[in-house]
Amino acid sequence: MEDGLNASKIKSDLKTDFIASEILVLDSVDSTQDYVFRHLDKLSNGAVVLAESQKKGKGRLGRIWHSPVGGGIYMSVVLKDSFTPDILSQVALFSSLSLTKYLKSRYGFNFRVRWPNDVLVGHDKIAGVLAVMRDNILTVGMGINVNQNLQILPEAATSLFLITGEEQNRNKIIAQFLNCFEEDFYCWKREGYEYLRKLWEDFASLKGKSVVAQTNSKTIKGVVEDLACDCGLIIRGDMGFNIELNVNELIKIREMFL
Ligand code: BTN
Repeated sequence: MEDGLNASKIKSDLKTDFIASEILVLDSVDSTQDYVFRHLDKLSNGAVVLAESQKKGKGRLGRIWHSPVGGGIYMSVVLKDSFTPDILSQVALFSSLSLTKYLKSRYGFNFRVRWPNDVLVGHDKIAGVLAVMRDNILTVGMGINVNQNLQILPEAATSLFLITGEEQNRNKIIAQFLNCFEEDFYCWKREGYEYLRKLWEDFASLKGKSVVAQTNSKTIKGVVEDLACDCGLIIRGDMGFNIELNVNELIKIREMFL
């Protein structure tokens, strides 16, 4: 059996300046995101809040993130910087791409980001990212399926245990990922959208693919051409015109297998 989450074990593998400046490990919580927002004043820049389980784990668009005890990583990272609200979608996408880059370098499988925040391996979801901003402070919530078996995973989801056949050490994964995340964060702070775009070129699942996207008001079909500067998706529609799909209007996007 894998050890439980442990702040000292995580710290022993950390090489960061400010990410994980403090680490809180909770047994059970409603949501690590909500915990952060309740304790925002006390948490330092880079603080990491982890839980063994969440009773009200949150996904994008008010969806539920299933968070039972059983080997998932449920983690929120606090970023206190002079952020403006327009930066939110960049941070959400950047964090999904950084996580994907780490997983691919560590495990070698074909990990990809399905815009804007799903991390997939093959066609199954293995992680999701939710970035929320309040009072110019950002909280990046990440759920990673690590040691869960099929019985406790939702449909169309997989875990690192299922794809490798071996139980994984969550403390090591957290430390190693946070080391990479901080490096990527510095690059993104320096280069901005250009760095994000480089990651997108390497790790986006939908680039050049035929997709069908659902928004509140319309269905868009076409081929994904590019990533817009505001992190929207540029889709070449059936009529040959480019349409920009905004992150905030997206309900669902799927690849079409023609
Ligand atoms: C998604 O795929 O829709 C995003 C899922 C984000 C889940 C994580 S788990 C840790 C943090 N706390 C939450 O309540 N949600 C995020």
